Formats: sequence, C-alpha cells, structure tokens
Amino acid sequence: MAGNRTFTMIKPRAVAENHTGAIIKMIEEAGYKIVSIKKTQLTASTAGKFYEVHKERPFYEELVKFMSSGPIVPMILEKENAVLDYRKLIGSTDPAEAAEGTIRKLYATSKGENAVHGSDSDENAEIESSFFFSEIERF
Ligand code: CMP
Repeated sequence: MAGNRTFTMIKPRAVAENHTGAIIKMIEEAGYKIVSIKKTQLTASTAGKFYEVHKERPFYEELVKFMSSGPIVPMILEKENAVLDYRKLIGSTDPAEAAEGTIRKLYATSKGENAVHGSDSDENAEIESSFFFSEIERF
C-alpha cells in the first residue's frame, strides 16, 4: 500500500526569488497537509550527505554547491498516495520537459536549479524526512 507522506524542499533559487508562498499554495491546493516545515540552510557538507546517492554523477559538485548557496524550505507533506501524486504535481526533473501547470514548469529555471525536490519512494521519503526533522517534529 502506498504511504501517505512525502518529503519536499523548496530549493535556494525559488526561495531567493520569493516563490515560497506560491509553491506552498499549489501544494495545499493539491490536497496536502503540511506536517513539518522550516527554513534552514545546508552547508556543503550536509548537502553532500543529503545527495550522497548521486556522488558519482558528473553534476554532483554543482548540485552540492547550488543546494548550499542559500536558504531552503524543507517540508513533510501528508496526503493519500503522497509520493507519486507529488511527483506529478512537481513535474519532470528538467523543467523543459515538465508538464504545463506543474511546479517545475512554473518556477524552475534549469535541471539543476529545478525549484523543488520530491522523494522518489516511501522509503526515501522516510530517510529524507528524518534527515531534516527530529522525531518530535514529525508527530
Ligand atoms: P532532485 O529531485 O533534488 O534530485 C537530484 C537532483 O540532481 C535533481 O533534483 C536535479 O536538481 C539534479 N540533477 C539531476 N540531473 C542533473 C543534471 N544533468 N545536471 C544538473 N543537475 C542535475
């Protein structure tokens, strides 16, 4: 059975360009409840840890640099079929390929600076949520 929670973060460029409110509005209008939310900034070291699965990829260094370049807004979101529905709401990794009306189509500027992250499985949603939020913040 699909889980009912996913993890997302609004990335530095979208936060810097004041799209936080508009993105949260889209998330709430899609039926998600915000379980946990904060504004924080990753260091190169913590960004590197979060994206460790991509360590061997050619874009890893650029990704770590970008993700630690400014504040981000991580959130845990709740709704039935949370992970898959959220991936539909945000659209493809590359905004050029993202469907009309998706968060990335509206607010991403490139594949690297793609406005938001979304977990790709229930297992990763749990791992990523616990990276940012303690047990009492994930009530
Ligand atoms: P995200 O969903 O946060 O997960 C991994 C991230 O790596 C992805 O979004 C993109 O921001 C980034 N990424 C994936 N492919 C590329 C690429 N070819 N060039 C730059 N960044 C990439």
